[in-house]
Amino acid sequence: MTDILKTIRTRRTIKSFKPDPIDEALLLSWLEAACSAPNHRMTEPWEVRHAGPETRAKLGHKTDFGGAPVVLAVLSKPAATPFERDENLMAVSCWVQNLLLAAHEAGAGTFWSSLGAQPRSREILGVPDGYDVVGLIGIGYPAEIPQPKPRNPIAGRIVPLP
Ligand SMILES: Cc1cc2nc3c(=O)[nH]c(=O)nc-3n(C[C@H](O)[C@H](O)[C@H](O)COP(=O)(O)O)c2cc1C
Repeated sequence: MTDILKTIRTRRTIKSFKPDPIDEALLLSWLEAACSAPNHRMTEPWEVRHAGPETRAKLGHKTDFGGAPVVLAVLSKPAATPFERDENLMAVSCWVQNLLLAAHEAGAGTFWSSLGAQPRSREILGVPDGYDVVGLIGIGYPAEIPQPKPRNPIAGRIVPLP
């Protein structure tokens, strides 16, 4: 298997992290790499908020993101039309996946939570109108690595068209 396929296939959602910090420069290198995500018209629609302890306490996630030393809110910028909003969301999802894979490849783990999209969380995060919260991403070194969750083969989902 190539390195990229191995990285994709071995990534897991991590629910429990060690307290060890993530080096700032290393974290920044993953965020920078994530920006190579495809994005239509080069809108680069991603924005990031780094949640401090006060914000995390207010968010009140049931496990505090598994104790991840870093929690980022990833936002998708407003758009002029619903179509462009969808495009922004798609681009930011690609950005997040890049981040997840970059972190995983370096031996870290990630936890994507959708808690940030709730109205109460948006208020706590100070998200302006028109922005979408794509995820709250916990990042750290895994304390436990779960077993893979099996996927269905893609073969049964490929529909040939004339
Ligand atoms: C948009 C999105 C939102 C998610 N939100 C949550 C969440 O709120 N809580 C959670 O435990 N996992 C969440 N996940 C992670 C999925 O539960 C996880 O990817 C899935 O169970 C497959 O496990 P794996 O990532 O280890 O392969 C989310 C994933 C995505 C893509």
